[in-house]
Amino acid sequence: MFKKIICKNYEEVSLEAFKVMKEVLETEKAPVLGLATGSTPVGLYKNMIKDHKETGRSYKDILTFNLDEYVGLPKTHAQSYWTFMHENLFNYLDCPEENIHVPSGEGEDPEKNAREYEAELAKHTVSVQVLGIGSDGHIAFNEPGTPFESVTHVAELTEQTISDNARFFEGDKTQVPTKAVTMGLASIMRAKKIILIATGANKADAVYGMLRGEKTIECPASILQDHADVTVILDEAAAAKVAE
Ligand code: GLP
Repeated sequence: MFKKIICKNYEEVSLEAFKVMKEVLETEKAPVLGLATGSTPVGLYKNMIKDHKETGRSYKDILTFNLDEYVGLPKTHAQSYWTFMHENLFNYLDCPEENIHVPSGEGEDPEKNAREYEAELAKHTVSVQVLGIGSDGHIAFNEPGTPFESVTHVAELTEQTISDNARFFEGDKTQVPTKAVTMGLASIMRAKKIILIATGANKADAVYGMLRGEKTIECPASILQDHADVTVILDEAAAAKVAE
């Protein structure tokens, strides 16, 4: 079931997302947070950091599981999702490093990394999963055509995702990794609660497909139609096709 919130601007979107996060932080003693990269959740993470600084809330008992990581980048690479999460959130909280899980894209056998990640994830129930959405309707790196039953696996990125993400690699598509270790759609669906955040006109079609389109693997986010508790937080541009 979707609860849809349409906001005036990014600041409001980030505050609404934090409200849902805050409720989880306040009701669970040791919440398991499913976290996402991309530019969209950065405002939510800023609110979490502010909350930690200003209210003194401790994040030491949280466990975190990130959605995905590029294959072939060392974790300390400037554009790895491990680095992204540390620079945008973890470095500013008191969450111990051993409580943080980001899939590994390093080493000879990324499939094995994916299996091990899924095994660790399966020991827990994610209290709240934060999601962005790709302009082609992908969530994490589950591109169109990914089976709904998929668990953590190695995925090939589509041309569109490589072009979208080139902005993080000096605009150079050839530098963007072509594969990633990603939670699968079934792994994501196990979360108790989901916050999906989308902003900007380039997300309007994907948002329409997710909320109003046919449930199909051609729009991976449409699987969320089957989830019991999804809060979709949009700015006006992303909500343009689902406003009424
Ligand atoms: C990447 C990530 C997704 C994210 C998407 C959108 O492909 N793997 O998890 O949702 O980008 O990113 P942005 O929020 O920057 O638009």
